[in-house]
Amino acid sequence: MKAGLMVALDLDDGEEAVSLAREIGGSVTALKVGPQLFLRYGLDIIRRIRGEGAEVFLDLKFHDIPNTVRKAVEGVGPLGVSWFTVHASGGRDMITAAKEAAGDAKVLAVTILTSLTADHAHDIGFTGPIGDHVLRLARLARGAGADGIVCSPLEVSGLRGALDEDCLLVTPGVRPAGSSSDDQARVSTPARAVRAGADFLVVGRPIVLAEDRMAAVDRILAEMRTDGP
Ligand code: C5P
Repeated sequence: MKAGLMVALDLDDGEEAVSLAREIGGSVTALKVGPQLFLRYGLDIIRRIRGEGAEVFLDLKFHDIPNTVRKAVEGVGPLGVSWFTVHASGGRDMITAAKEAAGDAKVLAVTILTSLTADHAHDIGFTGPIGDHVLRLARLARGAGADGIVCSPLEVSGLRGALDEDCLLVTPGVRPAGSSSDDQARVSTPARAVRAGADFLVVGRPIVLAEDRMAAVDRILAEMRTDGP
């Protein structure tokens, strides 16, 4: 299996996040830090999680004018973050600025949030099939220098066929068979996301809120290897 698992450390407590990094860091590809943790602990939490030997995916979804994004990315580069996100809808120049400032970190462009249904997307001006917008934004982002695309598992196979094979495809909206989709809308299972051709699956609550988090990681890794639903 070539796909990796990235775990979203969506927690309020930095000590808990570091101890979870220690517990599961060796079994997964990366640990994802988003605004929930970053706004409470700042750059220090990235240093500490990296100190546990884990690779860090910084998911702040930058979306601003190109100069502001460039300066923000310059601030995270020296910390050794391996991946970070921008919104593809920030446009070509913003994505290129992020890439130019990224150093060794990989730029992942978020297309349409996995929490949005077709109705939600329509409300913000995306009329027609969501998949068409995801594809347009993905092509734009890849052409502007993004290393990869963040999309729903439901969109992976379409993008796989439409983009070059080096383009990373990263999918949140992953739910193990039988678990709640929470506020995610365009979801699928680990097995299906892998079969569709995703490079990395991002999973948060099904692991972070589990009673036995290591067992939840093992279960998802096992599902990623099966031919099941
Ligand atoms: O708990 P859950 O598995 O839904 O967490 C998914 C994670 O992926 C969250 O940290 C969320 O911010 C992030 N994410 C997402 N959809 C995107 C991009 C990132 O859910 N399009």
